[in-house]
Amino acid sequence: MTSHPIAVFDSGLGGLTVLRALRERLPQEDFFYFADTRFLPYGDRPETFLRERGVLIAEALVKRGAKALVIACNTATAAAAEAIRAAVDLPIVALEPGVKPAVGLTNSGVIGVLATTRTLESERFQRLVGNHANGYRVLAQACPGLAEAIEAQGPDSAEVSALLDAFVAPLAAALADVVVLGCTHYPWVAEAIARRMPAGTVLLDTGEPVARQLERLLAAGNILGGGQGRLTVATSGAPASVAATVNRLFGQKLKIEHWEP
Ligand code: DGL
Repeated sequence: MTSHPIAVFDSGLGGLTVLRALRERLPQEDFFYFADTRFLPYGDRPETFLRERGVLIAEALVKRGAKALVIACNTATAAAAEAIRAAVDLPIVALEPGVKPAVGLTNSGVIGVLATTRTLESERFQRLVGNHANGYRVLAQACPGLAEAIEAQGPDSAEVSALLDAFVAPLAAALADVVVLGCTHYPWVAEAIARRMPAGTVLLDTGEPVARQLERLLAAGNILGGGQGRLTVATSGAPASVAATVNRLFGQKLKIEHWEP
């Protein structure tokens, strides 16, 4: 089991920002990354759809031999993490927006959260804010269309820039001094977000803490290490459209598989 890969999935290529942190921290592991691009964006889909899709993907990843699972998508976590934990018997790390660390970092008491509509409307997010950010002003800004535009037009496109102008302005106006990147696609536009905020604003993403948590779980289960740093990437969409971004991020030419869970 120790030599089996760790499975990581997202609606698309956002989870690659998490995968990068995982591979840096755990170079002795093999990874299988699944981009469910056929159903991107998750952020506008009903919760029941995401729950069923999440369980289906997790079960198929177990059949493929995964030794652990990282849900590298805040939206999938919000809708499906509990159902996935109930359905499969694997160490699982699920992402959620970094509201807890943000509370420890803010001086102004105003925290901005950028995430998908589905994440922000979820009970799980409401609970997170209620339990950890009581007494703070949490500005939850939904960013419909942003993850899609980052994938389709690219992080530096005019479309992405116009969306960021609209979504970041309310956080800057409210003088948020910490901005939580509550969607794994958004670290790709972190600099562009920072440019639209007052100097010194802290941007929080969850790649690094997720990598540490995964390492702890693998060690606790005695399944840490055993791989060779191999990476396999698969998509339910068109492999060619995924290939360019993956190769840019990881600086290596990878063959992208088509895979339908
Ligand atoms: N990357 C995903 C997240 O972290 C969602 C993007 C989408 O809407 O599909 O929430």
